[in-house]
Amino acid sequence: MKSKASAPGKVILFGEHFVVYGVKAILCAINKRINVTAEKSQERKISIKSSIGNLALEPNKSISEIDSPLKPFYYLANKMIQNQNNGIKIIVESEIPLGVGLGSSSACCVAGAAAISRLFGKISKEEILKLAIEAEKTIFENTSGADCTVCTYGGIMEFDKESGFNKIKSKPNFHLVIANSNIEHSTKSVVARVREFKEKNETQFATLCNYESELVREVLGLLKENNVKELGEKVIQNQEYLETIGISNDRLREMIQIGLNKSFGAKITGAGGGGCIFALTDESNLDQTIMQFKEKNYECFSVKIDFKGLDTF
Ligand code: PMV
Repeated sequence: MKSKASAPGKVILFGEHFVVYGVKAILCAINKRINVTAEKSQERKISIKSSIGNLALEPNKSISEIDSPLKPFYYLANKMIQNQNNGIKIIVESEIPLGVGLGSSSACCVAGAAAISRLFGKISKEEILKLAIEAEKTIFENTSGADCTVCTYGGIMEFDKESGFNKIKSKPNFHLVIANSNIEHSTKSVVARVREFKEKNETQFATLCNYESELVREVLGLLKENNVKELGEKVIQNQEYLETIGISNDRLREMIQIGLNKSFGAKITGAGGGGCIFALTDESNLDQTIMQFKEKNYECFSVKIDFKGLDTF
């Protein structure tokens, strides 16, 4: 028997970095997915095949000794076959570029947790999410769980450190054009750079946190109204704050300028320093915005909000 599951990637719409210091962030799931197929095997081995490589290991290895981005799958499979005689074969297929802040690893953990655990019986979404966060901790020890939560439930979510997650009921109808800088970035080192900026500029940083909180509060209203034009202005404003804390660079600025030619607003999404930007559009300027990037030879694609979240079949 094969068990299949898919989970969406995500973007941070507003509030990255400031969220580390208690400000509310807004995330949404996107309609690009990770698909995972799991199957029991006679051979007592855990084998994982993916476009970024393969991993095949005996059960019960220590997680800390495994040096592979595929280790969350190993962790999940190993946990599930503890009282069994089988092995597990896993195939991972991705529509999401990996390692650029679009939630590929969280989507892997959520789809992996669902596909693998369902080989052994029924399981609720809440339990799958719990397993997925455990698996994600094998790569990001300090994960807030926000990414796995939005990948599991889909839609838009507000998140802050104190109150946790809260699903937003609005169903705005915008398109995001995502462009990839192809510059590798490490979330950890960019977060450390922002901390240095904060320590050198405490008053300015506190003011920016207040501005960002106010901006997010206004955004929550605009999402309800599906007011894409004014949301675009907030996107531009948020990007200014991200520029100020030093997470942008020439390439990202050029991409944002290209995005701004036709869209309502453009900003970095996620840690910055590299990774992706998005431009906010609706049907009226989506194609023209994509053309702008293509003319300048930038890799880009458009996404909408995914309202489905985890899917199993
Ligand atoms: O690029 P990502 O998806 O890893 O996003 C990082 C978001 C930060 O706010 C920069 C860090 C964090 O832990 O919230």
